[in-house]
Amino acid sequence: KEIFEQPQAIRDTLESRITKNTVLVGAFGPNANKIFSQIKQVQIIACGTSYNAGIVAKYWIEDISKIPCNVEVASEYRYRNPILQDDTLFVTLSQSGETADTIEALKTANKINKNINTLCITNSAESSLSRISDITFFTHAGPEIGVASTKAFTTQLAGLMLLALSLAKSRDLNPVLRGRIVKALRLLPETIAESLLSKEQMIEIAPNIANKDNALFLGRGIFYPIAKEGALKLKEISYIHAEAYPAGELKHGPLALIDENMPVIALAPESEIAEKLISNLEEVKARGGTLYVLADPSINMDVKAGKLVHMPKCDFFMTPIVYNIPLQILSYEVALLRGTDIDQPRNLAKSVTVE
Ligand code: G6P
Repeated sequence: KEIFEQPQAIRDTLESRITKNTVLVGAFGPNANKIFSQIKQVQIIACGTSYNAGIVAKYWIEDISKIPCNVEVASEYRYRNPILQDDTLFVTLSQSGETADTIEALKTANKINKNINTLCITNSAESSLSRISDITFFTHAGPEIGVASTKAFTTQLAGLMLLALSLAKSRDLNPVLRGRIVKALRLLPETIAESLLSKEQMIEIAPNIANKDNALFLGRGIFYPIAKEGALKLKEISYIHAEAYPAGELKHGPLALIDENMPVIALAPESEIAEKLISNLEEVKARGGTLYVLADPSINMDVKAGKLVHMPKCDFFMTPIVYNIPLQILSYEVALLRGTDIDQPRNLAKSVTVE
């Protein structure tokens, strides 16, 4: 249900924050623009799925607004001695706004340097995180009940794209690109709806994953964190061990794992490095691995007993969001076949308010 609510969730997140071709100056509240124009680096902190959203954002922020961006898991950040400069925008990402490690990491940051500016992107406007942040961006995903996050992740990404655009706008950077991305964002609910149609193909693939003990997810560039999120979803709800790798790293270890019992799920959008990814996938094929490839319609490759699924055509900046949808559905269908509790996986909690 929550997977299928994503087109509307995105509409609600974007509502009153963009016009036809630009992000509104007030999208992050009245004080944000002044802060955005002054900061010189971004530090993102989060846990779980929110952390994966943070890694996607690093690519967008550095690419679109040319501001250096670091991303770290909250439980690690709070226990080291990080360097925080005055002109840092410290961003916490949290669906619940109540995750203990994320709250403590923010408190740690405020102790290290009280001059930093803090922004939280959360689905709970009245949360503890929001109360101790300078700026709150509310994602409007609606209540998310499933422990494994789906629509909250997608709306976080929409919010993070608005952040990258707002940072660029505060510096008058890339106006043409910004206009193009806003137009693509307006089309995003429809593109996601199209992507939900991949359900039929995911139902066909699911039995080949459900009867295995392991799975490998591959992506390159901004698709590496999407591969990570795909692996996390599969682990969480089907209890199959899954790992994600940037495809170029295959030869430095995981290639040794490839055989007929290791399904490989790969993300192949049209990009500057699509050819390199295809040659990584050829290496998997040559070693007997079965490939399930989500690809741009222009990409054709022989996947033998595996499956090639063509994704809807969309602006490159929207592809991480759009390609994530079939991965959510795939995990759901695999879990359904294995008879696990999809909404409430064993040993996990929706909101982790203790350490
Ligand atoms: C728990 C949930 C995950 C979530 C993570 C971070 O582990 O099971 O789905 O991604 O917490 O939660 P947050 O509310 O901070 O985004």
